Amino acid sequence: MPTTPEKMTKYEKIEQFVKGFKLSSLTYKRVMHLLNDEMNNGLHESMNYHADIKMFPTFVRALPDGTEKGKFLALDLGGTNFRVLIVRIDQRDVDIQSQTYLIPQRIMLGTGIQLFDHIADCICRFIRDHDLKDETIPLGFTFSFPCRQEGLAKARLSKWTKGFRCEGVVNEDICFLLHEAMKRKNTTTVDVEVVAVVNDAVGTLMSAAHTDRNCEIGLILGTGCNACYMESLKNVGLWEGDYEEPAQVLINTEWGAFGDNGCLDFIRTEYDRELDTYSINPGKQLYEKMISGMYMGEIVRLTLERLSMEGLLFESADRDCELFHRGRFFTKFVSEIESDHDEFFRNTKQVLDEIGVTNYTTEDCNIVKYICTLVSARAAFLASAGLATLINRMNKPEMTIAVDGSLYRFHPRFHNLMVLKIQELIKKGLKFKLALSHDGSGKGAALVAAVAMRLRDNKQG
Ligand code: GLC
Repeated sequence: MPTTPEKMTKYEKIEQFVKGFKLSSLTYKRVMHLLNDEMNNGLHESMNYHADIKMFPTFVRALPDGTEKGKFLALDLGGTNFRVLIVRIDQRDVDIQSQTYLIPQRIMLGTGIQLFDHIADCICRFIRDHDLKDETIPLGFTFSFPCRQEGLAKARLSKWTKGFRCEGVVNEDICFLLHEAMKRKNTTTVDVEVVAVVNDAVGTLMSAAHTDRNCEIGLILGTGCNACYMESLKNVGLWEGDYEEPAQVLINTEWGAFGDNGCLDFIRTEYDRELDTYSINPGKQLYEKMISGMYMGEIVRLTLERLSMEGLLFESADRDCELFHRGRFFTKFVSEIESDHDEFFRNTKQVLDEIGVTNYTTEDCNIVKYICTLVSARAAFLASAGLATLINRMNKPEMTIAVDGSLYRFHPRFHNLMVLKIQELIKKGLKFKLALSHDGSGKGAALVAAVAMRLRDNKQG
């Protein structure tokens, strides 16, 4: 006989509110099937328009071979910061100097002109501070948003994601917008030439492939979540470029949009739905919203809030504290809480103090940590299902996956959870390795620029 609510223990009641985070292997396999179908739709020329997963060809056809050389500027835009880098490549040696500039929220939500003027300001400041005046330096731009590329250095924004929503940029060529902004600066001493626009997943892959020939997948687990991989041209119905060897092209999947047509509704919880409703892009990026760093803290917060409302957590919590305010529980808290390994709950207590919850018990700390582990494990497993789909598609005996992003770097269990889950989900006999990629956005963009310059020189020579 099922237990009636009155007879349920506190823990049984809590389970009722969190069971949606626990998914079976069979469910993850169903997710993989759906993702594979959606990817095929994206690659298909006549279906791409309606497909959620856009599978953009990046025009990157070859990975670095270690012979690259030169001095490059790189820009990195995609999270809360903007970075300018000067990257010196001498075959396998790479030297990077960089500067980070904050992008205020008013600019993230302002106009495109304001955004690109701000970027141009930062570039000019960087060039002055690093004494790079009077030179024309090739530039690789890591622009971590979905772009339909028409060439290596021509990329039209298809939509904004994450925290950005600048007016007048969708459908525009972002290289052109950058050049125009540089012209508005009216400086004669600074000359930049954008030779490549890359996504951060692509940069991450390029950076790792520079030293590992088995690396053909790039994954970002940071503010957002996305992956890229090398696909045979014969499978890319969308491809409009040439068919010269190598007959392959790197595809920026933009899989964060998986589920936007409702196909993942069977696994979305009440917390996922609420998070989405109050986000700046409701109904969009639904797979990403269950995984990435921009959202994970908020999913945990919504769950804790619900348990507290139900009288199952923090008996006397003050309703004015941060716990009850949207966006005030950060994903870094989840990593900190899960790094507690004993009954003292030092990090958990510090986080609870920080968000203004007082009078908590050790049992409360236990429950908070439990919720964090459920939400982060689901995220790690969903990302694993995505990777396993790619590994199975590519069907190579050995594969390295280059990974970058704050969530992967700082969460104490993400890597291990993913290794276990991927092993369970891929075809028997395939081997894989998850390798942290260093400074993919900077080094990767510079490498794409370097490869582009090398090919151009070869053609001209
Ligand atoms: C979002 C963007 C994508 C990027 C990812 C990680 O999903 O749309 O382009 O790669 O975030 O930053």
